Amino acid sequence: MSSARLAVMGNPVEHSLSPDIHQQFGEMTGIELSYEKILVPEGKFSAVAAEFMQSGTGFNITVPCKHDAWQFVDEASDKANLARAANTVSRAENGRLMGNTTDGGGLIRDITGNLDWGIAGRRVLVIGAGGAVSGVLSDLLAEDPVCIHLYNRTTSKAAELGERFDDHRLSAAIAGDLETGYDLVINGTSAGLSGDDVDLPGKIISDDTRCYDMIYGPGITRFNSWCRDRAACEVSDGLGMLVEQAALAFEIWFGVLPSTAPVIESMRASLDAS
Ligand code: ATR
Repeated sequence: MSSARLAVMGNPVEHSLSPDIHQQFGEMTGIELSYEKILVPEGKFSAVAAEFMQSGTGFNITVPCKHDAWQFVDEASDKANLARAANTVSRAENGRLMGNTTDGGGLIRDITGNLDWGIAGRRVLVIGAGGAVSGVLSDLLAEDPVCIHLYNRTTSKAAELGERFDDHRLSAAIAGDLETGYDLVINGTSAGLSGDDVDLPGKIISDDTRCYDMIYGPGITRFNSWCRDRAACEVSDGLGMLVEQAALAFEIWFGVLPSTAPVIESMRASLDAS
């Protein structure tokens, strides 16, 4: 088989770790591939994607193009339809372009598999109501938490997501509704990327809370540091989610699920060295 041609598309893309991750998967599984970073100019997603798929095997999509990718494909999975976003495009045997979202699956594999934190029967607080959060809610609900409270700076966006997902366990929360000591708190906001703290009451965290930040970087993230200032809780950033969503995308393209632990370890080492 000739080398598979893959890419990640978004804006910006220059700092994407996906090429490194997929190169490692390719080496581990013996699948020959190239993986490019493609910067998508505003309004040009369809043109860029269609051109790439003339010869491409498939591609990943990062912000801000996941919604465009969902609109672009011929057919989307149920999860992608609920999220109104796709992070993985592949070509079916009949030639149709398929859109999937593996972000939620990646989050679950990291939380329940790598970290061994439970979700079933737990009280969960999710912070944020943008693309990152809408992409993971189906998978979180499928893990059977007791409740998911959705808190966002702009309350109407949390309410809109609550209505879209239409599940009695999911509800939009205002600051006054927030409870003490959730079992699991997931930060899906981009606040930390701009050096901001989300305005939240410290009572949401107790020593038994597990705190997951979907952002990652060298050292502890701003949100996880905020949590650790309030309690002796366990924290994780989203590097494991990144590698796990990539593994699920790789499985869609090649039918092989690569092992992730060595890749997470090597990505962590290169992040910490950066
Ligand atoms: P993404 O695709 O990364 O989710 P997005 O759709 O722009 O990006 O959503 C960003 C999320 O981070 C939103 O929930 C946003 O809150 P608003 O809906 O109120 O804008 C949240 N966010 C970003 N900066 C924030 C800040 N400084 N404080 C609180 N929330 C913030």
